[in-house]
Amino acid sequence: MPKSCRVLVLISGNGSNLQAVIDSCDDHLQAEVVGVISNQPDAYGLMRAHLAEIDTSCVIAHSGESRQEYDQRLAKAIERYQPDLIVLAGFMRILSNDIVNQYLGKMINIHPSLLPKYPGMNTHQRALDAGDTEHGASVHFVIPELDAGPVILQAKIPVYEGDDAEVLAQRVHEQEHAIYPLVVKWFAQGRLAMVNGKAILDDKDVGPSGYAPD
Ligand code: GAR
Repeated sequence: MPKSCRVLVLISGNGSNLQAVIDSCDDHLQAEVVGVISNQPDAYGLMRAHLAEIDTSCVIAHSGESRQEYDQRLAKAIERYQPDLIVLAGFMRILSNDIVNQYLGKMINIHPSLLPKYPGMNTHQRALDAGDTEHGASVHFVIPELDAGPVILQAKIPVYEGDDAEVLAQRVHEQEHAIYPLVVKWFAQGRLAMVNGKAILDDKDVGPSGYAPD
């Protein structure tokens, strides 16, 4: 049997994307969530991991600790799991360059906007304020620059008159739960890689907006 891909998921909160990845790994068996790390001890995602009998660790920031110091502790926690792929699923900390470079091409993130639009926070409100008629989510490889790594896959949602940030967040979440497990599966199947700063799927550059079927 081919070796299954060891997936480590980093969370800070609810973990609905973690749940979607856990559920899809159960279905296709080419990937296994071997651990969940949270920087928040009360993250509901930790409960989801316990229910799925997945090992968990908390790496909580100490007051006065530098990003570098925190990331050294985080790196140790990560190494314990020997991951093939690190999945950032609502992990609300900026990672230092050292840790990103250590896992370059092996770390992916989901971001609630159609990147390169709206890196950072408050993406739903920013899309509304800009009067956008479409919005969405992006899965991308992580590089040292925040939310700027090559996009692998995006999902778009319409923005209707009267929508507020909460409604958009819900609509985006639904799409996230479809696209994130798909990208994990592609990686686990050995079909996806980051080469020269580009996302390559089945030996083809997916292009700036991620994979789009012909
Ligand atoms: C998701 O919407 C994800 O896109 C976002 O946090 C949410 C986590 O939800 N991530 C970021 O904003 C990262 N910049 P979840 O905990 O239910 O998966």
